[in-house]
Amino acid sequence: MAQYTSDVQAGLDRMREMAKGNFDLSWMNSNPEGWGHQAEPGPTGLRMVDIETGHYAPVSGRGSSLGTMAPRGCFVPEDTPPCLDTYVLNEMTEVWSENAAALYDEAVVRQWNSVTDIPWDKLEKLPDDIERAVCQMCTGLTEVEFVAGDMPARWLCQINHDFHEVKLFLATQIMDEARHLDVFRKRALANGGGLLSASPGQEELLAAILTAPDYTTASALMHIFGEGFVLTLFRQGEFLAPTEVEKTIFRLCMQDEARHVAYGVKHLQYLIERLPEREAEIHALLDVGEQAIFKLTLEPQTSEPRAILAGGGLANIELGMARMAFIYRKQVQEYLNRLQVAGLDRSSRITIPLEIPVDELAA
Ligand SMILES: [Fe+2]
Ligand SMILES: [Fe+2]
Repeated sequence: MAQYTSDVQAGLDRMREMAKGNFDLSWMNSNPEGWGHQAEPGPTGLRMVDIETGHYAPVSGRGSSLGTMAPRGCFVPEDTPPCLDTYVLNEMTEVWSENAAALYDEAVVRQWNSVTDIPWDKLEKLPDDIERAVCQMCTGLTEVEFVAGDMPARWLCQINHDFHEVKLFLATQIMDEARHLDVFRKRALANGGGLLSASPGQEELLAAILTAPDYTTASALMHIFGEGFVLTLFRQGEFLAPTEVEKTIFRLCMQDEARHVAYGVKHLQYLIERLPEREAEIHALLDVGEQAIFKLTLEPQTSEPRAILAGGGLANIELGMARMAFIYRKQVQEYLNRLQVAGLDRSSRITIPLEIPVDELAA
């Protein structure tokens, strides 16, 4: 007979006892406070907020599972081991957002795919300058989407399991960004063009997001600032989309970005209400982000394709510049408004112009 380790031997002994009808069954009554729980589906189905009630609703300011993987609301035996100090984001203020559960439900209901939801059959041969501009814009957006997925992925595995609403939401964001990456790459490679140039300037902003010292500053920089600018840009999709294909891509991506921005605004609001002393460090990182994003206007591969698309071709670059100036003004205004909602007044601190004086530049 084979020699087993003591653990395997103990397991076999336990199974022998069970085979004789000797069960433990203590788990059946391990969590009396959490037993008898019910949830009624609402008109839209069974949402996360429908189940997180009663015993399961309270989320303490400091995550109670402290390093274990125990689900919130269950009984945690004393010998449950804290896991390798992996889960270090244990303060609710560090990650929480009151809308995370609702955004998660919305995200899973509204998933789309780039295989069948984009009318690829409507692609048509475009003038060379337009196709090149679309492909350059898609190259830049693909570059951005990589980081928009990497940022939540970097922090997700550090968040206490008590805050599962946030973890679930961030998991949907990672999938959303994967889809954005894939749809922009598909567009660039599908219509006779291809990828064009990467953007060194853009990478400066992306690096600031990835190397931010803590989750909240990373979130403010990405969810509110970076994704906020992208959301406003996608909302103006009719200016930038030469065919039904790009219009559909912008519309679908916009839905997703709206959730990411909504999470970021509510998270920052949650933190600032409780820890107003953190304002200064968030302002400091936004200073860096604003400078980095403005430098992008110097980069031809970022600003020129948008101006060409907005004008409808190289020949109409002036109209394109005017439309891009309109979009820029909206981007900055909406950025300041979102920060205001979160409780951060940046109107007198912003380090970039509120608008680009196109007329003066042309004079
Ligand atoms: Fe995205
Ligand atoms: Fe996003």
